[in-house]
Amino acid sequence: MNTVKIMIDGVETEIVKGTTVLEAARDQGINIPSLCYLQGVNHSSSCRVCVVEVGPRLIASCTLIAEDGMKIQTNTKKVRDARRTSAQLLLSDHDRECLSCSRGGNCELQSVSNSLNIREVTYTGEHSSREKDYSSPAIVRDASKCILCGRCVGACGTVQTVGAIGFAKRGFDTVISTAFGRPLAESTCVNCGQCIMACPVGALTEHENIRDVWDAIADPDQYVVVQTAPAVRVA
Ligand code: FES
Repeated sequence: MNTVKIMIDGVETEIVKGTTVLEAARDQGINIPSLCYLQGVNHSSSCRVCVVEVGPRLIASCTLIAEDGMKIQTNTKKVRDARRTSAQLLLSDHDRECLSCSRGGNCELQSVSNSLNIREVTYTGEHSSREKDYSSPAIVRDASKCILCGRCVGACGTVQTVGAIGFAKRGFDTVISTAFGRPLAESTCVNCGQCIMACPVGALTEHENIRDVWDAIADPDQYVVVQTAPAVRVA
């Protein structure tokens, strides 16, 4: 039997075995917010904005494989409150200068917060890393906007098999870092920009010289990419 029957918000549905609750719900047209999940790239279950209620428990739907007879609630008060708390905690340690952010209006954290009707952030306190890294000719990293979802790590390591970045340190000090915390320009980064595409917020953005870098990749005879400075045209 390659299918299972589950109940989502009181409606029975039959789905292919191995499907996650998030995918099953979305196939039914039910909107469950997500931030860290990127199909085939990142399944870290770290943001918790996709939680659903299964019996008495709140569980992240992005990595929850649906089982036969499972009854799932996606929009109870308990679910909405938990999602709001998770999003607020992310926002509380996020540089919220959205007006001047290049991802403003195109930021997944912003849209999830809007969809959860978050109008203020009640959590205050210390902020973690505020470092910015402009060393790369292609990519600007702004740790003050990073939500540690790991999508960039998946894009760099799992998809591109470069592995220039990964998680470092623990707890409140956790950061996404190159090996030994070196600037991106001194890492194994190949400037492909896939981490930028994967980033849901403004933590990874294009350097103003990125077009030159892509030209350099396309035409290596014409350009030399200097690792510690913007791409330089050979005279
Ligand atoms: Fe499921 Fe982040 S999207 S935990």
